[in-house]
Amino acid sequence: MRVAMIGTGYVGLVSGACFADFGHEVTCVDRDAGKIESLAQGQMPIYEPGLADLVSSNVRAGRLKFTTELARAVSEANAVFIAVGTPSRRGDGHADLSFVYEAAREIAAALEGFTVVITKSTVPVGTGDEVERIIYETRPDCECAVVANPEFLREGAAIQDFKHPDRIVVGTTNARAREIMSELYRPLYLNRSPILFTDRRTAELIKYAANAFLATKITFINEIADLAEKVGADVQEVARGIGLDNRIGAKFLHAGPGYGGSCFPKDTLALLKTSQDHEAPLRIVEAVVAVNDARKRAMARKVSAALRGEVRGKTIAVLGLTFKPNTDDMREAPSIPIITALQDMGAKVRAYDPEGMQQARQFVADVTFCNDAYDCAAGASALVIVTEWEQFRALDFARLKQVMQRPVLIDLRNIYRPEEVARHGFVYESVGRPRKA
Ligand SMILES: NC(=O)c1ccc[n+]([C@@H]2O[C@H](COP(=O)([O-])OP(=O)(O)OC[C@H]3O[C@@H](n4cnc5c(N)ncnc54)[C@H](O)[C@@H]3O)[C@@H](O)[C@H]2O)c1
Repeated sequence: MRVAMIGTGYVGLVSGACFADFGHEVTCVDRDAGKIESLAQGQMPIYEPGLADLVSSNVRAGRLKFTTELARAVSEANAVFIAVGTPSRRGDGHADLSFVYEAAREIAAALEGFTVVITKSTVPVGTGDEVERIIYETRPDCECAVVANPEFLREGAAIQDFKHPDRIVVGTTNARAREIMSELYRPLYLNRSPILFTDRRTAELIKYAANAFLATKITFINEIADLAEKVGADVQEVARGIGLDNRIGAKFLHAGPGYGGSCFPKDTLALLKTSQDHEAPLRIVEAVVAVNDARKRAMARKVSAALRGEVRGKTIAVLGLTFKPNTDDMREAPSIPIITALQDMGAKVRAYDPEGMQQARQFVADVTFCNDAYDCAAGASALVIVTEWEQFRALDFARLKQVMQRPVLIDLRNIYRPEEVARHGFVYESVGRPRKA
């Protein structure tokens, strides 16, 4: 199969490299010439474990190319994926589909022969219909089928997720398109990843329903954590106790500072817009969005409480800035509102993140970026773990205590055991667990 991947961001680059690894001939297209140039020189525009090796081996094998020339890549392809961004539209939270529609117009102009055009971007129900309309409006003579194929990969484990998905969802009722999609994903099918064929609108809704459900699960356990703190229970044990029930499942039941990232916040908002437009209110998702929004700044109050309200003029050290470990993605990271709220309280913030500091500079101001966890902790009155990078799981408490102004640890990811931290003489605050000092 010859594949054109339009948009070489997290999803486009990972999907393109994986399709090439399956043996397809892939051209990744992006309008960002700088990105394409650095990819051509073997430099990855994002941090994703294993990606650089996967890209370079497939480039060497001649199966993966990068270009800014969309027309050529599309004209040669059997399958054209749209993997451009669909951020929240400023003002109303609806998905901004301008990149998708623009790509559809450019693709239409370049189509040659029967081609499947696939939306891999997360798009609201009915977007496939509009993409199809745009394509036929631009090129009434063309032969194409528009398919919805939402992507479920997680940043930080993207290659593993793409190659071993729980399922592949393909929305089309066109028989030729179905054949081409089966061929594209055949290596996975052989690995027994189920392919779920549905109609296009159903496929589009599956993606939003999945993300809204996961966001709900996280938010649910976060509220249970708040209750656990009030009643003297341990949310970790509660999560284990309910997660062992197969009907519930253990995943996405880790209490923390609230979800962030490039998907859940914008996708829940976009789903709410769709529900309002169709007069089918989603009250649960509305509550999830509101609760999660309030939670991030509330985490700064937790820090303040651990310092008995004495935050003004104090130095606070923040460990972990990205929205989760193993990525450099800072989009909607909880660290951003937490840092801003601490600064609003008068704190001076020092921060360290293994991969995200360059990105973070665009999102937070007046932060001192440090070289490692201990440099970050120097002179701090509190150390706050916001993102659970592996290297923060075995901190040297004796060393921390030496460099810190006061031994206070606020662990927003519950990566330590309260007794263990207390034994080192730290004041320890975590999420939804009894306090130990
Ligand atoms: N990031 C994730 O973990 C994830 C997971 C599942 C689904 N998604 C969805 O996938 C889509 C892409 O997300 P992302 O995080 O990869 O976005 P991204 O912002 O990292 O990348 C999008 C890329 O598309 C390029 N682009 C935009 N318009 C273009 C055009 N007309 N021609 C060529 N290139 C163009 C941009 O320059 C950019 O490099 C979104 O809809 C997102 O919701 C993302």
